[in-house]
Amino acid sequence: MGILSSAHGRVLLFVFHLIFNAAAAAAAAGRWDLLQGSIGVSAMHMQLLHNDRVIIFDRTDVGPSNLTLAGGACRHDPNELSMKVDCTAHSAEYDVAANAFRPLTVLTDTWCSSGTVAPDGTLVQTGGYNDGDRNARTFSPCANAAACDWTEHQNVLAVRRWYATNQILPDGRAIIIGGTGQFNYEFYPKTNGADAAEIPLPFLSQTHDPEENNLYPFVHLNIDGNLFIFANNRAILFDYVRNAVVTTYPEMPGGDPRNYPSTGSSVLLPLKPAPTEAEVLVCGGAPTGSWVQASQHGNFLPALATCGRIKINDAAPEWAMETMPMPRVMGDMVLLPSGEVLIINGAGTGAAGWEIGHNPALAPVLYRPDAAPGARFAVQAQGTVPRMYHSTAVLLRDGRVLVGGSNPHERYVFADVEYPTDLSLEAFSPEYLDPAFAALRPQIISPLLLINHGTPFPLRFHVGQLSANGVSVTMASPAFATHSFSMNQRLLILETMNPRAVGDAVYEVIATAPAKAALAPPGYYMVFVVNNGIPSEGVWAQIQ
Ligand SMILES: *[C@@H]1O[C@H](CO)[C@@H](O)[C@H](O)[C@H]1NC(C)=O
Repeated sequence: MGILSSAHGRVLLFVFHLIFNAAAAAAAAGRWDLLQGSIGVSAMHMQLLHNDRVIIFDRTDVGPSNLTLAGGACRHDPNELSMKVDCTAHSAEYDVAANAFRPLTVLTDTWCSSGTVAPDGTLVQTGGYNDGDRNARTFSPCANAAACDWTEHQNVLAVRRWYATNQILPDGRAIIIGGTGQFNYEFYPKTNGADAAEIPLPFLSQTHDPEENNLYPFVHLNIDGNLFIFANNRAILFDYVRNAVVTTYPEMPGGDPRNYPSTGSSVLLPLKPAPTEAEVLVCGGAPTGSWVQASQHGNFLPALATCGRIKINDAAPEWAMETMPMPRVMGDMVLLPSGEVLIINGAGTGAAGWEIGHNPALAPVLYRPDAAPGARFAVQAQGTVPRMYHSTAVLLRDGRVLVGGSNPHERYVFADVEYPTDLSLEAFSPEYLDPAFAALRPQIISPLLLINHGTPFPLRFHVGQLSANGVSVTMASPAFATHSFSMNQRLLILETMNPRAVGDAVYEVIATAPAKAALAPPGYYMVFVVNNGIPSEGVWAQIQ
């Protein structure tokens, strides 16, 4: 009997292995969860704040949203293009831990705007449309989170900013670059008289094309404090202090446009400990002529499947081209705490704009920057909700990626269209969150509050199976996501010493904060311990 049952057990085990391995081979990595079927507002813009709330907003001129303002309030705006009296919200706050949301009140139009988080953790949104295009709006997380709402700052910008890009600077101000009809930049807040006016940036007019536009330029703060600015198919390294071009990079091979409406995406790749080089990755977009073909002829061309990667501080920088597993326009690129890049959302054909994207790119792709060329991309588990124009994705502190939005229509349209306005929120969990890695997943047990540039700090964590190679500590900024670009997004891999055991499966690692504000501008970051590729949940730290 014993022999029989044990033989039987072995057969069962064998069959189980067959089934399990077949399932593992078939199922792509990562997992999708629906968090909210409808938050009532389409997530055109998203920003995570250090109280683990995500501030979400759309435009105000879409007609009624599906979320009522609190307490029966209504917005009265005689200049509003759509509804002079509007009792619905066009902004919402999503509470990650509670998986709950509440309406927020924006007073003027925030359509296609930009933002940064100030060093004190306040979201500083700039620009928009119509009566809101020269406004800034701030949102400060407060202790009684349910009481916080937007504060409007009327006509504080030098010029109207619609489709501009912001980048936080080492001194904590934001630089606001470009926008429709604006071949210039300005700073906000205005700390002195010299800050008041806009400053010309000829690169933006040089890369402007009325059809292959260059809106929402990709901007990254380089390790030397200069700005890498990519528009259309070209890039410069720009010294905003002297208003001077430091480097003109070669045009990206192929010459196809990558910015709105030929919307690709871009990240500054994770910075190495004490970095001496920095690399930028630009992925996807739409080929030359695609927007005209789509918007004027109903001809939806395949999106670009190529990425360009460049070492921006090389003496003779060159683009290295790579090919994604599938074409993608309007994809979002999210830096993960593991040091990988997630490429998510978007479409396989057409361009950005109303009604002109098709073939939703439902499967995200993971990009491993340190793998050998040709072995860097891995297709992830497919989602079910098309995330087309006006969709967004942001990293959460727990390592998931919050995905929302998609509204390729002028108003909210829920029926009789191929891609209805989507008001849901989903989470994509990268493979590192798989329960199979529980023993490898560190858990930080020392809360971090303040770190200083260049200064070592200890982190205590618990882990079942410490990697023989030690751990790494990474630091991610919470980014402002809109139109497939995450402004201010950066991930730093810190210098660390080997962890030492300080208790039962408890270790302490000493990490050194980035040396200067050009590497990590002041503000809040999520700090992670990564063990064999598996990140802990992050802890918030403020660097100053
Ligand atoms: C939004 O409201 C409209 C009108 O009441 C309704 O038809 C639609 O189902 C709602 N959709 C969502 C996603 O909330």
